Amino acid sequence: MNAAKRQIALVGFLQAQNCTTIPAAWRHPDARHDVTSVGFYQHIAKVLERGLFDLGFFDDRLAMPDMFGGDHKHTVENGIRCVKLDAVTVLTTMGMATTKLGLGATYSTTYFPPFHIARVFSTLDHMTGGRAAWNVVTSVNDNEAKNMGLSQAPDHDTRYDQADEFMEIVHGHWDTWEEDAIVADRDSGLYAHGDKVHRLDHEGSHYRSRGPFTVPRTPQGHPVVIQAGQSGRGIEFAARWGELLFMANPDIGRAKENYVKVKEVIGAAGRDPEQVKIANLTFPVVGRTMAEAEDRRAAYDELPNLIDDLSLLSEGLNFDFSDKALDEPLSAEDVEAMTGIQGIRNQVIEVTGKQTPTLRDFVEVSGRGRLAHPVVGGPVELADYFEEWFTTPACDGFVIAGTHMPGAFEDFVDLVVPELQRRGLFRTEYSGNTLRDHLGLSQPQLGSWKR
Ligand SMILES: Cc1cc2nc3c(=O)[nH]c(=O)nc-3n(C[C@H](O)[C@H](O)[C@H](O)COP(=O)(O)O)c2cc1C
Repeated sequence: MNAAKRQIALVGFLQAQNCTTIPAAWRHPDARHDVTSVGFYQHIAKVLERGLFDLGFFDDRLAMPDMFGGDHKHTVENGIRCVKLDAVTVLTTMGMATTKLGLGATYSTTYFPPFHIARVFSTLDHMTGGRAAWNVVTSVNDNEAKNMGLSQAPDHDTRYDQADEFMEIVHGHWDTWEEDAIVADRDSGLYAHGDKVHRLDHEGSHYRSRGPFTVPRTPQGHPVVIQAGQSGRGIEFAARWGELLFMANPDIGRAKENYVKVKEVIGAAGRDPEQVKIANLTFPVVGRTMAEAEDRRAAYDELPNLIDDLSLLSEGLNFDFSDKALDEPLSAEDVEAMTGIQGIRNQVIEVTGKQTPTLRDFVEVSGRGRLAHPVVGGPVELADYFEEWFTTPACDGFVIAGTHMPGAFEDFVDLVVPELQRRGLFRTEYSGNTLRDHLGLSQPQLGSWKR
């Protein structure tokens, strides 16, 4: 791609829940609480589309954060991500209120059959005229397993091995219908060419799926695949399948290193690194001026409770911290038993230099449950930040997370987007209609995913 035309990709990080990723979001004075209403989500979709975002995407978790103390009372009483709606259903209503905005949702390969997910997302791609994306996750904790019929989550690398086979099936089904299969010719009586619709007949180590698939080829060929693996195995998976990758790099130095590394892994997997975009997770706190933004941040820091941190640490690490004292070192067995998001555990060990950190170390270093590493500023400071990361390059775009809804997106769109546009870093209108058009991703060829 021509370097002069490279543009920032913007992704709105959405939750179909009672708060943003930060539980305190619902306590914010400007937060809307009508989070089970269609109007709430359609409003957010329109804000993002007004801001010319590439897409909005919903995260997902298949359980309430009730790992801490094995009890959900604290979860619902404190509003710690206790409401969680089905993302694709919500997304569909957002698609009806917009015409250009890309629409992504997270679905787990560990708990749904591949045929089902292939069908859900290809249907969404048809219903939105080519704006659908699927964020592929393997899930995190045992409470999800318990809700979905297993007693515990499969181990980390097994989940990814299974997910590889899952993706082969999903892509296989997506490629079942050749583009010109349907003729619907009344005169000859031919609806579709029998030899242009294929059966998959997959029999593997984890799955069997026969086909033929029941959804014709979609406007984007297939929905855009999002992935956010951060571990070695996760990055290997992302490099094979992902088209838009989310990273959570804490600083530009790390981001730059990882950007080069991940693009190399993509190349080594036989794919074009230009055809895979990397977006870094960012928490902006925006004001009209730096002073206003700092005041907003200070006010926000008053909102979280310690129980928010403890609850989300437990569910994220798949480890119950409820009988641990805040300032006692945990045992080596405890640290070993944290089988959830490894990145959190590794970061705490690395930053503290302790193999057995205390619970307080986990709270303070991870910042989980709080506004941990926000980018605070007025339009100029924020645009400076985005410009530096983008041009370094440390990423191709940003996953914009919100302090509260819908105000955080409204502020971003009204204050930051115009400054990025003024600098020529961001589009001033959509140049196409599909999510692939927005991201500069080409249409996938049949079978191009095969190694
Ligand atoms: C921006 C972002 C969004 C994510 N959304 C989800 C999600 O909705 N559900 C989920 O189970 N995991 C989610 N994850 C976690 C990743 O899928 C992945 O498991 C995590 O980054 C750890 O990497 P690993 O699986 O390679 O250990 C997200 C990660 C990032 C950076």
